[in-house]
Amino acid sequence: MTAIMFPMQITETSAWWKEAVIYQIYPRSFADSNGDGIGDLPGITGKLDYLKRLGVDALWLSPIYASPKDDNGYDISDYLAVDPEYGTLADFNALAAALKGHGLKLILDQVLNHTSDEHPWFQDSRSSRASPKRDWYLWVDPKGYTVDGQPIPPNNWKCAFEGSTWEWDAATRQYYLHLFSRKQPDLNWRNPEVRQALYAVLRTWINRGADGFRLDVINMIAKASGYPDALRPEGNTDPFVPLNCLSCNHPPLHDYLKEMHREVFAGNDLYAVGETWCVDADNTLDFTGYDRNELNGAFYFYFHWAPTGREQFESFYKLYQATRGRSWLTVTLGNHDSRRSLSKFGDPVHHRHASATLLATWLLTLPATPFLFQGEELGLTDIAFDSIADYRDIQTINRYRAALAAGESPEAALAGVRSDSRDNARTPMPWDDSPGAGFSSGRPWIQIPDSHRSLHVGAAVSDPLSIFNVYAALLALRKRVKSLVYGDLTPLCDPGKVVAYRRGAWNGHPAVRVILNWSSESQPWPVSPPTATPLFSNQPTCDPSGLQPWEAVVFNESA
Ligand code: GLC
Repeated sequence: MTAIMFPMQITETSAWWKEAVIYQIYPRSFADSNGDGIGDLPGITGKLDYLKRLGVDALWLSPIYASPKDDNGYDISDYLAVDPEYGTLADFNALAAALKGHGLKLILDQVLNHTSDEHPWFQDSRSSRASPKRDWYLWVDPKGYTVDGQPIPPNNWKCAFEGSTWEWDAATRQYYLHLFSRKQPDLNWRNPEVRQALYAVLRTWINRGADGFRLDVINMIAKASGYPDALRPEGNTDPFVPLNCLSCNHPPLHDYLKEMHREVFAGNDLYAVGETWCVDADNTLDFTGYDRNELNGAFYFYFHWAPTGREQFESFYKLYQATRGRSWLTVTLGNHDSRRSLSKFGDPVHHRHASATLLATWLLTLPATPFLFQGEELGLTDIAFDSIADYRDIQTINRYRAALAAGESPEAALAGVRSDSRDNARTPMPWDDSPGAGFSSGRPWIQIPDSHRSLHVGAAVSDPLSIFNVYAALLALRKRVKSLVYGDLTPLCDPGKVVAYRRGAWNGHPAVRVILNWSSESQPWPVSPPTATPLFSNQPTCDPSGLQPWEAVVFNESA
């Protein structure tokens, strides 16, 4: 790739959600105020000073609503109630008020593709074919019956958590669709009453203080017409076939998103970011283009399969070139569904501090809204529990069972699911060195890994050189030097082990250069090293003869 100099800086209009750094909280694992072992809303309220000290601008809370927790809250049984494990509506109001007091925005997670099977809408829907709510979900007749009278599912679709996407309801003799667990029936977005009921939910939470939403699997709400079979990969003999992109982006998805924008977001200064699998440089403008009136942002999942710096840069840059001046991007290294970013992208064994802070530099110096996942600022790494009994995530447990059923030994099945388990990201935040790590005075709902205990917040905050304090320094730099938000992005070399880019001057803020040695070996400088003290460096000194392993430097171009 050759360096391209853009002729002119694009005039990017400013917005709070372009400048904000959003911190994702997994409420169950953040802070427990009442000793039941489960994080809760008052726990979060008690930690706002910590988040202010870090310097983030907004919080995204994974779902806090009433739920049987088959999928830890992504299975909602009452959209308008706070789950009793997390507190009460009064606790929510107190949190919302405290956030305002701290100048922090609130992004709530909403799950509009499906409900819990315990939601009264679904209970009503499944009660009879004549129910007025029957058509609120996706009920389909069997494809036929086996010779012994067993129903045959409508197609070969495999749900995200193993097994068929179709669950048979013996009482009403139809299947219902669930792209996730059988306790997460998909809503029928074709029904306008469903859509209006969901928009009313969003409006209620806006009235209660939300500044925006993260919309769970939002590009799966419209289904493939006629429910066609998924293409079976060669050699796959499983009766059910993973859907991959077949579950995403079907018409009339964009009509729904435009309608939701009109009904909920238009005229309000709110932020709507979609969890959008199968959205990339080729189609993101359809969702996030300024002229589209659909979403403000989308998540891009290349971080799941692009572990090197070169791949990260190339994926981001492709998105940037496709959207420059026409839409605003997001950047993230991990979330509650992924491995810990330091384990995935860094070298936590040999270069823990340098690789964690290089990743922070990457996350916080791009023209995109950065999302930081809880614990990243402490340099938390993946976990490895000894027994499947210690895991809590439905996906991990179901995959383990499927591996056993396919004939694997328990050891092999555990090894197979452990490295990718979503529980890697879901263990409690370590706050101090007490037995409950300051997370809880009770027994935590999921173990606190021994490897996380010494990395607690108390130690990190008081050590001026900690990963936490480097994050804080970078967050402050991004606030001060606005070219890091709005300046043009231009590569300074072909990305390889070293990734280097320029952020153009913006509105009186200087052009800066970012140099990242995304490797555990020394590398030559791709451009001249800075001659004056850099704006930021993750090394005590800068060696002009070469970049140190995982060195990250940001410097004023004219310095
Ligand atoms: C999203 C969530 C994930 C959940 C799924 C079903 O991918 O991030 O945690 O299991 O949707 O709601």
